[in-house]
Amino acid sequence: MCGIVGYVGDNKSLEVLLGGLKRLEYRGYDSAGVAVIDKDGHMGTRKRAGKLQVLVDDLAERPLGNGATGIGHTRWATHGGPTDRNAHPHLSADGKLALIHNGIIENFSELKKELTDTGASFTSETDTEVAALLVGREYEKTGDLTESLRRVVGRLEGAFTLLVMHEDQPGIVVGARRNSPLVIGLGDGENFLGSDVAAFVEFTKRAVAIGQDQIVTIRPDSVEVTDFLGNTVESEEFEIAWDASASEKGGWSSFMAKEISEEPEAVANTILGRVVDGIVNLGELSPIGDDALKDIDRIVIIACGTAAYAGMLGKYAIEQWARVPVDVDLSHEFRYRNPIITPRTLVISISQSGETMDTLMAVKYATAAGAHVLSVCNTQGATIPRESHAVVYTHAGPEVAVASTKAFLAQVTALYLIGLHLAKARGTLSDNAIRENVVELQAVPDKIAEVLRVSQAEIGQLARWMTDIQSVLFLGRNVGYPVALEGALKLKELAYIHAEGFAAGELKHGPIALIEPGQVVFVVVPSPRDPDSLHPKVVSNIQEIRARGARVIAIAEKGDASVLPFADEVIPIPLAGTLFEPLLAVVPLHIFGMELAAAKGLDVDQPRNLAKSVTVE
Ligand code: M6R
Repeated sequence: MCGIVGYVGDNKSLEVLLGGLKRLEYRGYDSAGVAVIDKDGHMGTRKRAGKLQVLVDDLAERPLGNGATGIGHTRWATHGGPTDRNAHPHLSADGKLALIHNGIIENFSELKKELTDTGASFTSETDTEVAALLVGREYEKTGDLTESLRRVVGRLEGAFTLLVMHEDQPGIVVGARRNSPLVIGLGDGENFLGSDVAAFVEFTKRAVAIGQDQIVTIRPDSVEVTDFLGNTVESEEFEIAWDASASEKGGWSSFMAKEISEEPEAVANTILGRVVDGIVNLGELSPIGDDALKDIDRIVIIACGTAAYAGMLGKYAIEQWARVPVDVDLSHEFRYRNPIITPRTLVISISQSGETMDTLMAVKYATAAGAHVLSVCNTQGATIPRESHAVVYTHAGPEVAVASTKAFLAQVTALYLIGLHLAKARGTLSDNAIRENVVELQAVPDKIAEVLRVSQAEIGQLARWMTDIQSVLFLGRNVGYPVALEGALKLKELAYIHAEGFAAGELKHGPIALIEPGQVVFVVVPSPRDPDSLHPKVVSNIQEIRARGARVIAIAEKGDASVLPFADEVIPIPLAGTLFEPLLAVVPLHIFGMELAAAKGLDVDQPRNLAKSVTVE
C-alpha cells in the first residue's frame, strides 16, 4: 500500500508530485506529503492527514517553493495512526534529508532501540522514521546519498520501497526496493520514480522496472541501477501501453462507474490476438512449454479477494476442458501450511496489481518448491509476473477504483483462455469443441454491453430503495457460487453492509436460519436450457426462502418465466452457455454495489480502511 513518486528535472516538481499522487491515491489515502528542494536550494516539506485534497488545499494556502527535485507519498497507515506527524516524508536528525517508504520494516523496534540508545529522538510512531534517521547518520559519514541508502537497506528486514533526497544534493533522488514495487520513468532532461507507471504516464511512456534488492539513482540526465552490493545491473526498458487519459475519470461520476462501463472492452481486449483460426494459442506460455503443460497432474490457483473468486471460476472451466484437478487457495493460506507441490504442479497466481504481498510470497514459495508458476496480471512491470515463469496479461487497462470490477472479468477471461490452451495441449477437447467455446467467449463483450444498457437504470433504482438495508445475502450454485461471493464482497467493501455469499445447496445446512421476513436475497439462477442445468434446484431454493418471507432478486436468463412467480425482481441477462453465464451475471452485482454506496453518499472509489493493492502481509 502507499503510493510513492520521485522527480528530478526542471522546476515543476510540485506539479509532477501532486499529479502523480493523484493517480496513485488509490494505493492509500490516510495522509499525503511532499518534500521539494526549491530554486534557492532550500528543502521544504508539507504533510497532512486525510486525503490528498487536504494537502493540495494546504499548499494552495501556504505555498511551498517549487523546484527541480522532489518526492511525494500517499499513505495507507500500518505503524501509527493517520496523523500529520505520522505522514511521510520523515526527516533525518538535522532535517536535511527526507525519506518516504512503502512497506513494513519488520525489525524497526530493534533499530529504534539502537537509535534511541545512541541519542536519537523520534517525532512519529512509524517504522519509517528509523530508516530516515539511519540514512541521515550514514550521510553525515559519507556525503554520498546512494552509498548511505545502500548501507542502511542491508540492515532492514521486511518489505520496502524507499526514496530519499537531501538538501545538499539537488537534482538527485535515490530509491531502493525489496518486495515492494518501484518503476523508473525515463524522460528528456528529467526522470521519474513511481510505485507504478500511473505516477508519471502523463509525462513519459518509457519505463524500466527495478528488480528485487536493487537501488536506483536518478538525475535529470542519468539513471543508474545497482544491486544492494553496488554492482551495476542491466535493466530492460518497456513502453507503457496505455494513455494518461485511461487513468482519468473522463466525465464519469466515479472511476468505478467508468471501469464498469469498460467491462466489455476488458474482456474483448484480453482475448485480442490470442486466437488463431478459432483456436486459442497463448505464446506467453512457451517459457513453461506445451510438453510440461501436458505433463502436469495438478493445478493450484492462488489469489486474494476478487481475484480468488475469478480463480474459482477458472477451476470450473479448466477442470471441464483440460481434465486436470484444480485447487483454489487464498494465497496467505497456501503459503503458510506446507502445501504439497511437485515438479508436475502448475501454480497459477492471479493479481490485478501484481503487487499483492500475500500472493507475491506464495509465488516465491511455489517457485522455490519447484512448481511451474504462471501469473495472470493486469499491470506491466509488476513484481509478481517478474517472479513467475510465465505471465498472461489481462488487458483491462488501469483499474483505479479500489473495488475490482473490470479486472475480475478480464481475469476470468484469461483463465478461460488458459483452460482452452491446456485443452489443446493435452488433447482433452477436439478443435471443434475449442472453437465453439471460443465463439461463446468472443460473444461475451456484446452481451455484457447489453446487460449494462438494459439493467443499469433499474438496478440504480433498486439500490436507491435499499439505502436503509442492514444485510443482504447472495446465493448461487456451481459457477453461480463465486458470483454470489463477489456480489457480497462488493457490498461489504463499498456500502459497508453486512453481506454473505453462499452456495445455494448449503442453505439447508445452516444459513437458512438467517432468513426472516424482508431479508433481501440475490439469487444467481442458471439457464434452464442446459440439460445438466441446476436450474430446478435453484428454483426450489428460491421457493424455500420465499416461503420464509425473503425478498428475492433473481438474476436470470431473459425469457426464463419459471422464476417470475417466486421473485420480487428479476434482472435479465442474455443467453449464454453455463460457463459463460458468470461473466454476465456478475455485472448487475457490480452495478448494485456501486449504486448502493453512491445512494448512501459514500466514496465509491476509496472505501474506508482499504487500499487498492495490499502490499503488506
Ligand atoms: O491486486 P490483486 O488482484 O492481487 O488484489 C486482490 C484483492 O486485494 C482485491 O481483489 C480486493 O479484494 C478488491 N478490493 C476487491 O474488490
